[in-house]
This record gives sequence, structure tokens and C-alpha cells, in this order.
Amino acid sequence: MRITLGVTGGVAAYKAAELVRRLQQDNFTVQVVMTRAAREFITPLTFAALSGQKVITDLFAGDSQDANLESAIEHIAVAQRTDLLLVAPATADILAKFARGIADDFLTTLYLASTAPVVVAPAMNVNMWNHAATQENLKLLRDRGVAIVAPDEGYLACGMTGPGRLAGQEEILAAVRQVLRTKRDLEAETILITAGPTREDLDPVRYLTNRSSGKMGYAVAEAAARRGAKVILVSGPTALETPEGVTRFDVRSAEEMYAAVLAHFPKCSSAVFAAAVADYRPAISALQKIKRGKGSITLELQPTVDILSMVAREKKAFRLIVGFAAETENVAQNARKKLESKNADLIVANDVTAQGAGFDVDTNIITMFFADGRDVTLPKLPKAELAQRILDELLRMRAAQEKNGLELAAGFHATRKEFSH
Ligand code: PMT
Repeated sequence: MRITLGVTGGVAAYKAAELVRRLQQDNFTVQVVMTRAAREFITPLTFAALSGQKVITDLFAGDSQDANLESAIEHIAVAQRTDLLLVAPATADILAKFARGIADDFLTTLYLASTAPVVVAPAMNVNMWNHAATQENLKLLRDRGVAIVAPDEGYLACGMTGPGRLAGQEEILAAVRQVLRTKRDLEAETILITAGPTREDLDPVRYLTNRSSGKMGYAVAEAAARRGAKVILVSGPTALETPEGVTRFDVRSAEEMYAAVLAHFPKCSSAVFAAAVADYRPAISALQKIKRGKGSITLELQPTVDILSMVAREKKAFRLIVGFAAETENVAQNARKKLESKNADLIVANDVTAQGAGFDVDTNIITMFFADGRDVTLPKLPKAELAQRILDELLRMRAAQEKNGLELAAGFHATRKEFSH
């Protein structure tokens, strides 16, 4: 795939050099286009050496009329060859030009001439970022489908602190992959996803719960729906909106979650269990509020049903089951144990004590453990990107099944017809 990387004039322009390398590592062919201002910060030679391609600079750069004509139509050729236009760093100036349709150099002309998806990673002074003009331009671009990788907060080259630093390489790459993944490669699947916490009532006003926000499970649901799957989301209490195209069933306790999963699983070809289900619930849920007394009280807890294990025990051969493992120690050992004891095809393990991983954050750090003995560790990535990777693996397992002659059972197709959103 070909990516055109637009580099505009900011202190972060040097970071685009490393980005070229990362894109190449992901097997993208990179064509760099630099604005005049970018060339004040870094030379085209650096990008030419890294990308192995001539760097495009000006719209009218030649000494002769012929050279100018050649250059003037080159943007059309580049526009036609490009699978995605990425601008990093993107200045306030380029965002304004893109938003208003000003085409006064190669990059802005290419933007107008191209129908490829566009990703911009802005970097600028914090006041420029917060300015109403910039925010309006960003809104316009977002509304037109441009993907914006928000800048990081931190100490800026101008001496101020706040949002304005170019987002990290991994975040930019994740956005690129996300935008390019417009394939509807999950249309054959109906996926049941559990997400969020459960609440186990002690009395009418108190309950036992955990820190799950639902973000991980919802990210999988959203990604699966975008890729064409029918998605049934069984959700514990969360503050999240239902992703587009997803059918959601709200539950409260582990028992309710089990009932909803049992009701919907027969229509599904696969399931992803991302919910943090309570392992124990109060043996008795008091009908009236438990009164405060002088002494301590003891709660008796009893185990809840292990939903994943119960469902996986009964699964037909074609059904693929992905479980999660929230661990605080011996991650690999515990995850492998869960893979086996729960009869899952894949366990996604996260060390929930690691910074930027686990509960109630937008990123996670996971290792995927497969039934065939393989494991794959991924760096800290947005949950949206990890959701894509998990679904990629689900598809890979499906392809392996099909190679071994195991098609999605005819009976399953029949039951699917009965299901509609
Ligand atoms: O929701 P977020 O804030 O985004 O946080 C994400 C997360 C940390 C909740 C998620 O990444 C995660 O790890 N989910 C699984 C949490 C969990 O309960 O892990 P576990 O190791 O205790 O359970 C193992 C598997 O069995 C899980 O797939 C779980 O859904 C399932 N299970 C557990 C207990 C139970 N009674 N029934 C189950 O189905």
C-alpha cells in the first residue's frame, strides 16, 4: 500500500523521519511531500534517503516550462497512486488550508485532488491548538471524514505546557491502520461480546463491583460492527454509548449476564468475553438496607457461574471463543491455565497493574495466548487498535478452520437468518 506523508513546518518535523521508518516496517511504500516551511526544519535529503523515493517539494519547482508542466500534473498522478494521505506534523496553517480548500502548493493541491482517506496528526503551540479558528477547522475536517490524531499534552518547544505535542508514533500508526481497515471482512460472523463490570447486590442500596469501564469490550464491539459482523453486546453497567450497528442488551449481575449470554449465544458464530464478571456474590442479598451497628459484620460470598467456561463447554466445533484474563502476577502462567481450563481458542491477557493497561484507560497492553501454543505480545496501544488485532486473529483462526475443512455449520446459517438487528 502507498502512503503519501505530508510534512509541514513545525519543530516536530524531524519526528516524521522516524515515522517513515515505522511505516516502512509495516510494509507501506512512503512518498514524502514537504511544504516550504517544513524545509526550514529538515532537509528533503533526509526523507529521500529514508524513503528511497524522490521527495516532492514545490508545485512549480522546475527551471523550464516543461519541468513546471510536469510538476503541475504530478500532484494528480500522486493523488491517484495514494491509498492514504497522512500529514504529520500538521500545522494550524495546513489544517486551515485543508478546511477551506486553499490549494497553493503541492500538498494542499494533492489534498483536493485525492479521494484517498486522510489522517492528520497536528502539532503546534497550545494556544494555537485551543484557538476557536483551529478547533472550527478541525471540526470541519472531522465532519468530512478526516481522521485526527489528537496531540499529546506536555512541555512544548515554545516553553508552554498543554496539548500540542505530536502524538506518539504508535498512535499515528494505529490511526492509519484503523482508517485503512475499511474492509468488511467479518460479514459472515455473528459475534457475542460481553463487556463492563457486574454488580452483585448486598442490599437495595449497596453492591459489590469492580473497576471495569466497558471500554475494551465496546472497542471490540465497535470494530467488529464496522467490519461487517452482526454484533450482540451483553453489557454490564457502563457510561458508554452503544456503538453504531451493535445490538446491546443491558444486564446488572453475573446471573443476568449468564442468562443473556445463554439466550443469544446459539445465534452466534463466535464470542469475545471481555466483561469483568464478579467471581463471587453475597450469599444473601438483604431485602432491606443493612443497618449500621456497633460491631463488625461478616459477609458470606458464594461463587457466581463461570459464564465463559459454561458456554465454551457446550460450543460446537465451528464456534470460536475468545476470553480475557485480568492478571496481577504470573500473567503467562495464569493465562495459559485459563486457556485450557475454560476451553477457549484464544485468551487475551492483560496485566491490570501495568501503567496504561487494564481497567478504565483508553489503552491496553496485551499478550494473546493461542490453543496451538503460540503467543503474541503487543506494545501499549489504544483499545480500538487492540480490538482490531484481536479480530484479525479471530479471522485467522476461522481461515485455519476452513482450511481444515470445517465450514460454518449449515445449521448456524439457518439460525442466523432468524436474527435481525
Ligand atoms: O472494561 P475496561 O475498563 O476497558 O477494562 C478492560 C478489562 C480489564 C476488564 C478487560 O481487558 C479484561 O481483562 N476483561 C476480563 C476481566 C476478568 O474478569 O478476567 P478474569 O481473568 O477474572 O476472567 C477470565 C475470563 O472469564 C474473562 O473472559 C471473563 O469475562 C470470564 N468470566 C469470568 C468470571 C465469570 N464468572 N464469568 C466469566 O465469563
